Amino acid sequence: MRIHKTSDYNEMSRKAAQIISAQVTLKEQSVLGLATGSSPVGTYKRLIELDSSGDIDFSEVVTVNLDEYKGLTPDHEQSYRYFMNDNFFNHINIKTENTHVPNGMAENLELECERYEKLICSLGIDLQLLGIGHNGHIGFNEPGTSFVANTHCISLTESTIEANKRFFDNADQVPRQAYTMGVKAIMQAKCVLMVISGKEKAQIVKESFFGPITPQVPASLLQLHSNFILVGDEAALSLL
Ligand code: GLP
Repeated sequence: MRIHKTSDYNEMSRKAAQIISAQVTLKEQSVLGLATGSSPVGTYKRLIELDSSGDIDFSEVVTVNLDEYKGLTPDHEQSYRYFMNDNFFNHINIKTENTHVPNGMAENLELECERYEKLICSLGIDLQLLGIGHNGHIGFNEPGTSFVANTHCISLTESTIEANKRFFDNADQVPRQAYTMGVKAIMQAKCVLMVISGKEKAQIVKESFFGPITPQVPASLLQLHSNFILVGDEAALSLL
């Protein structure tokens, strides 16, 4: 595990964008695993700047997102497909057909999980970008999820619904279920890059990366990844 401590969110975003940019420069056809949430938004902004200035070329890049709410259409403002288009894809030179997000509206849940799992396996992720939930979830792998689970549909915990309700009018509107890539696929990425910021994440950072490896803290498994990079600001890393 490599830890980069940065002064604040902006520096964290700049550092993470540099790492992703290096990946894409070294391999134009990189497969990037991408994440939603507020943590990576700054990283996407930086990457958009690098794209605009011609310092990075996404034209051959393929992306696979971690997760999607079940029951939200792609044009729903809180769907993760909408989030990715709005915060990233619409602003860079990437082919839409090369961007993948689980289909939250799939008619057959099991078939959708199988389809997405096959897609991830056939592509092979070069670099997986991650945030972390307050309870240590990665993607939507909530505490207790098996470390060997494939893409699956999960019921969100009350704490995740509570944390994510800020994006909706009220907690009742937060979908109760979501599709998520499994922890296994995340671990199979050649490189995992996590961005963390803010004091409210300091405790879970300590538990995840300096505590026992347990399914109760899904992110803790990353301690075993051979190329795991943690980029965090001073506040998030303050308890280490
Ligand atoms: C959601 C996403 C996660 C993300 C987490 C933390 O639950 N499914 O991928 O890491 O939120 O989000 P934030 O970065 O806003 O704290």
